[in-house]
Amino acid sequence: MGINETSQPIELLLAVRRGNRTLGSQIEDRLRRAIREGTLRPGSRLPSTRDLARQLGISRRVVVDAYAQLAAEGYLSLRQGARPRVSPTPASALQAPVVPEVPACRARFDFRPSTPDVSTFPRAAWLRSLREAVSRVTDADLGYGDPRGVIALRSALAEYLGRVRGVVADPERVVVTSGYTQGLGLVCRALAAAGARRIALEDPSNPDDAIVAARAGLEPVRVGVDAGGTRLDDVMRTDPDALVLTPAHQQPTGVVLTGERREALLAWLRGRNAVAIEDDYDAEYRYDRAAIGALQGLDPDHVAYAGSASKTLAPALRLGWLVVPPSLLQAVTHEKLLADRGTARIEQYAFADFLNRGELDRHLRRMRARYRRRRDALVEALADALPEARVCGAAAGLQVTVELRDGDDERAIRAQARSRRVEIETMGDFRPAAAGSPPALVLGYAQMPEPTIRAGVRELAEAVHAARRDQTP
Ligand SMILES: Cc1ncc(COP(=O)(O)O)c(C=O)c1O
Repeated sequence: MGINETSQPIELLLAVRRGNRTLGSQIEDRLRRAIREGTLRPGSRLPSTRDLARQLGISRRVVVDAYAQLAAEGYLSLRQGARPRVSPTPASALQAPVVPEVPACRARFDFRPSTPDVSTFPRAAWLRSLREAVSRVTDADLGYGDPRGVIALRSALAEYLGRVRGVVADPERVVVTSGYTQGLGLVCRALAAAGARRIALEDPSNPDDAIVAARAGLEPVRVGVDAGGTRLDDVMRTDPDALVLTPAHQQPTGVVLTGERREALLAWLRGRNAVAIEDDYDAEYRYDRAAIGALQGLDPDHVAYAGSASKTLAPALRLGWLVVPPSLLQAVTHEKLLADRGTARIEQYAFADFLNRGELDRHLRRMRARYRRRRDALVEALADALPEARVCGAAAGLQVTVELRDGDDERAIRAQARSRRVEIETMGDFRPAAAGSPPALVLGYAQMPEPTIRAGVRELAEAVHAARRDQTP
């Protein structure tokens, strides 16, 4: 059925004031700006002159003249009998932008570490689970429900996390989140509400964590990381109320928290009645031996466990989970309710079905073998092309940290790499207060097949050499 375009009045948020500028010029200015800034997009429909005049309580003639002026300038397209529209190619596109845009240029070799190989996302299996979820969901399930998430997923996660990560996970204490980042914010706000003031973060670590914690009202303090993982002497010295750490595979150094430190940390948490937030972001990938179990399994009362589907399936799912200590459960549930009243429930049912069918296990078995080959290819290529570089950390996860020579300049290397369309991250991205550790690159290998990795490393080595040449006086 066709819709008569001119029959429906269109609302436009536009205000004019009677004062020293004419009403017509005010309308013109507002519309010009909205079109230039993109609030009104190319092709958008506008109110008819009659409707806009009525909406603003002004004479139609004023609007007719303003529209005609804008049409003459190329902003609007006016045709007899048709609804006025923003021009398909508005005048703004023809003018030089105020800030010249760098043309979007795709990396030839993308070593940025955040994304898994999403080209292997198990689309057919996910679609089957999603179809199952949509067809089975009851009318009651289509309401808001428990902000912690649907019980089917909380139970499936409890089973999975207990089996694969040694997490002590009662479904009652599982909270489904929209990714780890949201989960961290929820726990931080719950901690702040319970009177916590200071939170320790690893240095280096993901820079967003400090922002999330600070926005929740906590004061972030830094604790160092060495070959044994988080430095406990720093934890004791800063005496925080809470601590965020990545014990299975420190982000970004790749070290694993030693057994002795785990025990000492848990003893400290109990003595101080503090809470650790365990970011278990990529623990499913360990290539040389079985992954060590989650810290949370050793003390579920003092460790909040946080996980995510972003590294195992795809960041776009925005699915994460918390296993919350009893003392924080009510507050975290309340924060989740205030944040968004719960994560998308149909996707939760789909993920529960996906887990229960063993699809995640199957996908991970495939991906582990693939990522392991890619990691090996990266390490070998680095040994060939940059023999002075040192690959650090455990054979795990989706990225390696590569220490360079003292004096190498991370920024200059990144700039040289970018000019060759090679994208990388450097330790400086994770180290806000640049401590005196050696220069290092953080290289993700998940997204490229082995031949591409080898070619990319050769380009990267060229970039390192070029940066060194530029540095020599
Ligand atoms: C250290 C770390 N934790 C967690 C995540 C996952 O975050 P989210 O679940 O919000 O995508 C990432 C993603 O890159 C990460 O680097």
